[in-house]
Amino acid sequence: MTDVQSKIKEMAEHTFGTWNWQKAWKSPMLVTDAEGIYFYDAAGKPYIDFSSQLMCSNLGHKNPAIIEAVVRQAEKLPYVAPGFVTESAIEAVEALRGIMPSGLSKFFFSTSGTEANDGALIMVRQSKAPAYKIISRYHSYHGATPAGLAFTGDPRRGPAERARYTIGGVRFAPDCYCYRCPFGLEYPDCRVQCARYLDYMIKEEGNVAAIILEPVVGTNGRLVPPPEYFPLVRKICDENGVLLIADEVMTGWFRTGKPFAMDNWDVLPDIMTTAKGCTSAYTPVGITAATGKVADFFEEEFFCHGHTYAYHALTLAAIPPAVAEYRKLVDSGLLTRGAAYLKEKLYEVAAKHPCVGDVRGLGHFWGLEIVKNRKTREPFDVKADKLSGKPLMTGKIAAEAMKNGLYMAAWYDTLVIAPPLIITEEQIDEALAILDKALEVGDREAVSTDAEVSRSSEF
Ligand SMILES: Cc1ncc(COP(=O)(O)O)c(C=O)c1O
Repeated sequence: MTDVQSKIKEMAEHTFGTWNWQKAWKSPMLVTDAEGIYFYDAAGKPYIDFSSQLMCSNLGHKNPAIIEAVVRQAEKLPYVAPGFVTESAIEAVEALRGIMPSGLSKFFFSTSGTEANDGALIMVRQSKAPAYKIISRYHSYHGATPAGLAFTGDPRRGPAERARYTIGGVRFAPDCYCYRCPFGLEYPDCRVQCARYLDYMIKEEGNVAAIILEPVVGTNGRLVPPPEYFPLVRKICDENGVLLIADEVMTGWFRTGKPFAMDNWDVLPDIMTTAKGCTSAYTPVGITAATGKVADFFEEEFFCHGHTYAYHALTLAAIPPAVAEYRKLVDSGLLTRGAAYLKEKLYEVAAKHPCVGDVRGLGHFWGLEIVKNRKTREPFDVKADKLSGKPLMTGKIAAEAMKNGLYMAAWYDTLVIAPPLIITEEQIDEALAILDKALEVGDREAVSTDAEVSRSSEF
């Protein structure tokens, strides 16, 4: 064992691996450098970052403008208590007000997406009391705290519920999952039943304070709703006096082409939470943004929330340069060009592989749903398999891609295609050539049929 290998082993031995069996956290990969869309292991081998790490490094690695701003802030004033104002916070708010949907004009700053959603919960439950119930959906991830996991519909809620540390009052609604519609209907004949059902739920439940939704479901499928979905959800919320929370932790910051994914539907939520791309992950920031409807309540109320690191000056220093870099990227035309090219080429690759059942997404945010049988849509693996320890087909495909220099996050049924937004056409070709080869791993165990790949986000 080399010196480096023994140091990695020692580090792993003395830390908890996240979302993992600890027996599997023995020799994680050491990453020593990253630049642009690539990161490098200790031997200097490059990997294309085809998932922007955890769908957060939107502007790629080693962006000089962001690094310079953070270094400057570190030298000047890294931290003061959140009861003071810093120039860093003033500039972050100014930058945000120029890019956030107008109406979302009051912010709370924390240090993660999870905390951004915790902040939303506090705003909702304080302002809507005695209503307290929150409606979420099964295909969702909203964070790692007792509140975040309670809102979460994905397999990680299981252990949290068994250990009884989630919060109460959360109800789950049917997903807007057109490839596997929970009502067994087809768009447009379905008349977006999944949205209409929310009205029924709210009225039957009573005491519903808010609905929390990922505009395009992230980890749990890159599920893109049809054009009618969000206008209808907005109407149902308004008619029933329920707040709409858009969790844009993953979908925000041009990931889906627009500054925020809700902009694709032109619908304004009452609260928007975001994190990840707001600093392109150079510093940890979570943002809970509220409209006047929510914020005004607290004028005469005690806002019962805060953290030592809320409004942390060093972390907020990354926001203004990140906003400026996003604008430059839009102006250069690369954002739109890259997204169009990615879509076209991904459709081509997906069509060739019988193990790809559905290809769906928006902008630079795509999912390939991996199936055993494209015709019957029989999956290789299901939700319950995620925490069973069973080797998953998506994991096998992602491991094959990784061997060949392509990093791709994998869920139990989908592969995550979410590269940094700075990716060029040539780099997309480079990545898709590796993906094309890796998908053969799935093809070998898939049933060959004459069915075509589904494109469930084409409405
Ligand atoms: C939609 C969504 N909400 C919340 C979170 C939690 O964010 P964080 O991991 O920064 O706490 C995530 C993380 O992936 C997410 O995708």
